[in-house]
Amino acid sequence: MDKQLVEDSLSEQLRQRLQAVHVHAEIDSTNQEAFRLLESKTAGNHLILADAQTAGRGRRGRSWQSPAGGGLYMSLLYHFSADSVQLQGLSLVTALSVHSVLSSLSSMEIKLKWPNDLLVGNKKLSGILLESRIGDATLPIIIGIGINYALAEDVKAEIDRPVVALDELNQSPPSREELAASLCSQIVKNIDRYCDSGFAPFQAHWNANDRYLEADVVIDSGNSRLIGKSLGVDAEGALILQTATGEQLISGGEIFPSLRDANEVNDA
Ligand code: BTN
Repeated sequence: MDKQLVEDSLSEQLRQRLQAVHVHAEIDSTNQEAFRLLESKTAGNHLILADAQTAGRGRRGRSWQSPAGGGLYMSLLYHFSADSVQLQGLSLVTALSVHSVLSSLSSMEIKLKWPNDLLVGNKKLSGILLESRIGDATLPIIIGIGINYALAEDVKAEIDRPVVALDELNQSPPSREELAASLCSQIVKNIDRYCDSGFAPFQAHWNANDRYLEADVVIDSGNSRLIGKSLGVDAEGALILQTATGEQLISGGEIFPSLRDANEVNDA
C-alpha cells in the first residue's frame, strides 16, 4: 500500500485529527502495533495499515488470515474522553460505519451480524476487533477492522467459515488506500455523533440491516448458551433476546442461527 495515496485520499479536516498514518508491508498485527504506539507514549490518533499480517487477531482468541493484498487490515487508535464512550455501542457503530461504506460499493445486500460482523448471505465479508487499555485522562481505544478484499480460492478454503471478498461484489473496487480513507472518514464522523448522542440515533439503521432480526438464534457467551428469538438491538446496542422465560438483554457473546452452527465454529 502507498502511504502517500492514503494521505492524499483523506480530507484536510480528517488529517488534522490524525497524528500520523502508518503503512507497513508486513506486520504481526495492526492492533498490536497500535498497542506498541501506546506503550511508547506516542500522542494522538493514528491510522495503521498493513499489506499483510503474520499474526492477525480475530475476536474470541481466533486468528485472522491476512495474506498480502487479500484484505484491508486497518487499526484506528483513537482517544476518547473517558466518560463519553461505551465499548458495546462503539463496536456496533464501527460495524455500521463499515456497512455504510461497503454497501455503497456493493451490488449485493450486506447484512450486520451482532455485534460487529458483516455478511453477504451467510458469508463473512468483514470483522471488527475493538481492544483497549485503561489510560489516564483519555481512553484510547484500538478499532481493528479486517475486510476481505480479494481472496484466492486456496486461502478461502483455509478459513474455517464461508467468506466473501469485496472483489466479488464490485468489479472495480476502490484501491485499498481509498477504501481505508473512506472508512476512516465514516468512522470518525459516526464517532462524533456517538459521543454526542449515544447509540440511540443508530438503533434503527442497525435493526433495518440485522441479518438475524426476528430469527431463532443461539447466543454463545463462552461458558453458557441461550436460545431465543432475536428482537434486534436496544438504544444502548444490547441484543434483545426473547427467551422461554422472557426478554433478556445480551451485551456479549456470539450469535448463531442454530446449535449446529454454534458447535461447528467452536469445534473448529
Ligand atoms: C473478527 O474476529 O471478526 C475480527 C477480525 C478483526 C481483524 C482485524 S485485521 C486488522 C486488525 N488487526 C488485527 O490483528 N485484527 C484486526
